[in-house]
Amino acid sequence: MRRSQIETGRSPPPRLSDGSGKPPPSLLASWQRGQFHGAVTAHLRSRLIDAIESRSRARIGADGLRYFFAPGRINLVGAHLDYSGGDVMPMAIDRGICAGVRLRDDRRIRLWSADQELAVDVGVDEIGDFTERRWGWAGYPLGIWRRFHLDHGVRGGFEAMFAGDVPMASGLSSSAAIEVVTAIALNALHGTGLAPEAIAALAHRAENEFVGVRCGIMDQYASALGQPGKALWMRCQGPRWEHVPFDPAACEVLVMDTKKPRTLAASGFNERVEQCARARAFLSERVRPEQHLASFSVDDLDSVRSEMDPLLHRRARHVVTEMGRIARGAAALRDHDYAELGAQLDASHRSTAADYDVSCEELDVITDAARSCDGVFGARLTGAGFGGCAIALIAPGNRERVAARVSEDFYGRFGVRPDFDLLRLGDGPGELDE
Ligand code: GLA
Repeated sequence: MRRSQIETGRSPPPRLSDGSGKPPPSLLASWQRGQFHGAVTAHLRSRLIDAIESRSRARIGADGLRYFFAPGRINLVGAHLDYSGGDVMPMAIDRGICAGVRLRDDRRIRLWSADQELAVDVGVDEIGDFTERRWGWAGYPLGIWRRFHLDHGVRGGFEAMFAGDVPMASGLSSSAAIEVVTAIALNALHGTGLAPEAIAALAHRAENEFVGVRCGIMDQYASALGQPGKALWMRCQGPRWEHVPFDPAACEVLVMDTKKPRTLAASGFNERVEQCARARAFLSERVRPEQHLASFSVDDLDSVRSEMDPLLHRRARHVVTEMGRIARGAAALRDHDYAELGAQLDASHRSTAADYDVSCEELDVITDAARSCDGVFGARLTGAGFGGCAIALIAPGNRERVAARVSEDFYGRFGVRPDFDLLRLGDGPGELDE
C-alpha cells in the first residue's frame, strides 16, 4: 500500500463515540496492557482498509470507494497555548482514522463506522448550522461538508465508511483526524485543490462553529501538516510552522492511558478559553494592549500581581511560563537533547496541574511513577487533560520495565491497571492506494 501525501496534489473507525459521552474501547485488541506494537504501521493500515471494505461490501457496496488516512497527534510541549496565541509542538502519530469515501449523485450524506452499527443518513438540507446530539461523532464529517458547501460551493452529497486505530476521547485527537480525513477526501473528490494548511483551517473552523468546541488550531494543523519523522513546531500567531526532525532511535513515546474518563473536558476546556480571554483583557488594560495572552511576559504578570484576580493570574502564569518551556523544548529537539526536552515536559505537567488545573490525581500519579523510573526523560498529560492519557519520553529498550513499574504503582493506588502503548511518528495524511 502506498500513501500519497496530500501535498503532491493527489489528492476515519476505530471505535467512534456513539454520542453517549462514554469513551468507547479502542478498535484494536492489541491496545492492551503490556502489549506493544509500533513497527506495524502498514499492517494496521491494511487492517483498517480491510475492515472498511468488508463492512462496506455488506452495507453499501465497496465499488468506487477511495481510501484516505489522517493521523492523530501527541503534543510534546506547549500545553493549552494555541488558543492564547502561543507556540505548540505536536507530532502526527502512526495512528489515526481511515475512510473509504465516494461522492453521491443526490443530496444525501451517509456515514458509517466499520465497527459500530451507528450510521447517519441525512439530506444536506437538513444539516443546519450546528451539530445535533443524535449525530454523535458524525457531526465532525457533517461540519466539514458544510464548510465545503459554504466556502467552495459543493452541493452534492457523499458517503463514507470510517475505521481507525486511535482511541477516542483519550487525548490523541481522534476528532481532528476524522475532520481532516473527511476534508482531504472531499478535497480530492471535488478537485478543490486546497493546500494542507487550508484543509487544517477549514477543519478548525468546522469544529469551532459547527461542533461548538472552542479549541485552538493545534490538532487540525498537526493532523493535516504531519510529515514523516518530524514534529511540528508551530507558532499559532500567524500561524507559522517548521518541521523539526525527531529521532526515534534516541527517544520513544510511551502512551499511558489512565482510563479515567475525560468527563469535564468539554466544559472545562471552554472555561479555560474564557478565563484566558479575561486575563488577556485585564492585562491589555493594565499593562499594554496585546491581542494574545501569550504575548505577555512573566514580568508583566508580576507587575499586576496584587491587583489581578488570583485565579486568572494562575491561568496567565501557566501560559507565559509555558512559552519559555516551549522555546527551551524546541531548542532541545533541534539538538536531539531528549533529556532536556523531557525536563520541559515535566515542568509543563507541573504547571498544567498547579496553575491551569487540568490534571487530576490519576494523571499526576501516572506521570510521577514514570518519572521515578530509569530511562525516562520526562512525562506529562497529553491533549486537553482532565483524565485520559499521559505520555512519557523514554530511552529505547526501557518500555517493558517502565510499563511494569508504572502499572504496579498505579494499581496500588487506584486498583486499576493502565493501558500502555508505544507510539511512533506517522507519515502524515494522504490518499491510500492498495
Ligand atoms: C485540545 C484542543 C487543542 C489544544 C489542546 C491543549 O486538544 O483541541 O486545541 O488546546 O487541547 O493543548
